[in-house]
Amino acid sequence: MELLRTVAELRQRVRQQRAQGRSIALVPTMGALHAGHASLIRTAAKTGDFVVVTLFVNPRQFGPEEDFSRYPRSLAADLELAAREGAEALFTPTAEEMYPPGSATFVEVEGLSNRLDGKSRPGHFRGVATIVTKLLAAAEPDRAYFGQKDAAQVAVLRRMVRDLCLHSELIVCPIIRDSDGLALSSRNTYLSQEERKQALALGRVVRRVEALVAHGERKAEVLLATARASLAAEPALRIDYVELVNWDTLEPVSTATLGTLFAVAAWIGKTRLIDNTILS
Ligand code: PAF
Repeated sequence: MELLRTVAELRQRVRQQRAQGRSIALVPTMGALHAGHASLIRTAAKTGDFVVVTLFVNPRQFGPEEDFSRYPRSLAADLELAAREGAEALFTPTAEEMYPPGSATFVEVEGLSNRLDGKSRPGHFRGVATIVTKLLAAAEPDRAYFGQKDAAQVAVLRRMVRDLCLHSELIVCPIIRDSDGLALSSRNTYLSQEERKQALALGRVVRRVEALVAHGERKAEVLLATARASLAAEPALRIDYVELVNWDTLEPVSTATLGTLFAVAAWIGKTRLIDNTILS
């Protein structure tokens, strides 16, 4: 496993691989890798591509009151996991490398950036779109892998790739859950034992909505009211949003159809967690 620190090193390495006839796969992460990231890396490695995992806790996607400074960092364990799952290089730039002094260019996906997580975390998707554009520009991957757990992020990035005519194909991998149904997230490490139990309400509400749809319910107002009632049964949980939206536009829908995104975000103590399902 190679550790690459600069954009120049990354660019040189992927160009070398490309010259040898290999395609390039990028798995952008903020580190604190878990089984969800492992599945992205494994899926990327199966194609035989040269797999580069990027590990950068991007300061520009955190609000001033958010958890940037305490976001979990575990480079040694991340290296081990990435290598085990088939990554061949890990790109870990400094903040100065990604944002040199005077850095003044941002990418904003208008409209989508202010919905769901973008509404409660102003500036978040601008930070995500900017860093992912930079990573795609630096590595020029054929494919880039993202988890469905960040479904709104996926919608923003898909639109960005289309609008900017970027070369990379975005591959979206399913949510990975613990055996009790909690969607894996690096932020789960913030939860106390008690909070972890309370957090199970998110996975439960996702299953509840899936079951209602499977039984023929399609009306958004019914599905959302049931979801809110189900979340209210866990008093320790504070709802941020519960939404039923078109996954491309992130606009609310009145009727659930194939591919509609049901998404939820909630606070458990000081930890904000998200979960979702794409209705089938
Ligand atoms: O999903 C994440 O971990 C981050 O938002 C990403 C895509 C790596 C950009 O910093």
